[in-house]
Amino acid sequence: MRKLILDLDMGIDDAMALCFALASPEVELVGITCVFGNVPVGVSARNCLDVLHLLGRDDIPVIVGADRPLAGMGPHRAFQAVHGANGIGGVELERARREVGRPDDPARGDAARFIVQAALRYGGDLLVVPTGPLTNIARALELDARAMTALRGTTFMGGALTVPGNVTPAAEANIAADPEAAARVLASGMPLTMVGLDVTHRVAATRGDIAGWRALGTDAGAAFAQMVESYIDAYEAADPWIGGCALHDPLAVAVALDPALAVTYETPLAVDLTGPLRGRTIGDEPAWASGAPGVEVALDVDATAFLDRFRERMARGLSA
Ligand code: RIB
Ligand code: CA
Repeated sequence: MRKLILDLDMGIDDAMALCFALASPEVELVGITCVFGNVPVGVSARNCLDVLHLLGRDDIPVIVGADRPLAGMGPHRAFQAVHGANGIGGVELERARREVGRPDDPARGDAARFIVQAALRYGGDLLVVPTGPLTNIARALELDARAMTALRGTTFMGGALTVPGNVTPAAEANIAADPEAAARVLASGMPLTMVGLDVTHRVAATRGDIAGWRALGTDAGAAFAQMVESYIDAYEAADPWIGGCALHDPLAVAVALDPALAVTYETPLAVDLTGPLRGRTIGDEPAWASGAPGVEVALDVDATAFLDRFRERMARGLSA
């Protein structure tokens, strides 16, 4: 069976991506690596542990990763208006008993090493889905570029090629949080698929979805309904045209597992590193001539097929 690592900056859509992945029978989640982003990395890790506990999966390893971008400290992105102060909409989950980085955990605190070890072990069977800044992936490339290039594929949520950004007119949040890491990853030659705002703004969860989760009568259904309700409130205030909350991170997992959900266009991608366009992902077709590697960029999505699958898998994941 195919193996999966999720690299999460555990906010609300990251939590939905995790639930979706756990309810996907075609893949085995072998670990979660955490990165700063929606929340500091320690909060991201805590949220991963507690959401796994909520979903009855205390067995999945959680490894702490980067707490800052490659270039200096940089601001920790406080997306409180979107994800709440604790990253999960202010919802108080029962605390998992385990702690990250416990002394008997061989991969404690070293997300990049965990990813490389998994790449060496599983090779072409391993999928990696980063849904936050690409810092852990850039660090893994530093450790072993060959192993990272040999894995099955990395499908990341981030970027915007044909549409505006969401944190600046040009930049999407995950790329803007660490443009240097994104630039290294995009130029690395790893097999990459970008699931950016071009497609993630076309798939939304609605209040009807969360009513269905509440009706399941489970703790998980109630907690996810509360989390996603606050996420929808934030989207209705800022981007009402989306018609609910954008399902950025779940879509990246879904496309990783089933690439046929998206139509992609292959091009070398660059990242602007300076000036007001810092963090923009931009096609660089002339770079083909100098041998630059291409990235598959999702430009269209079968929204109906994805949403059907999302609803079915979330209901399954939240039923226990
Ligand atoms: O731009 C959307 C991305 O930013 C998502 O991954 C969301 O979780 C936030 O991190
Ligand atoms: Ca995310």
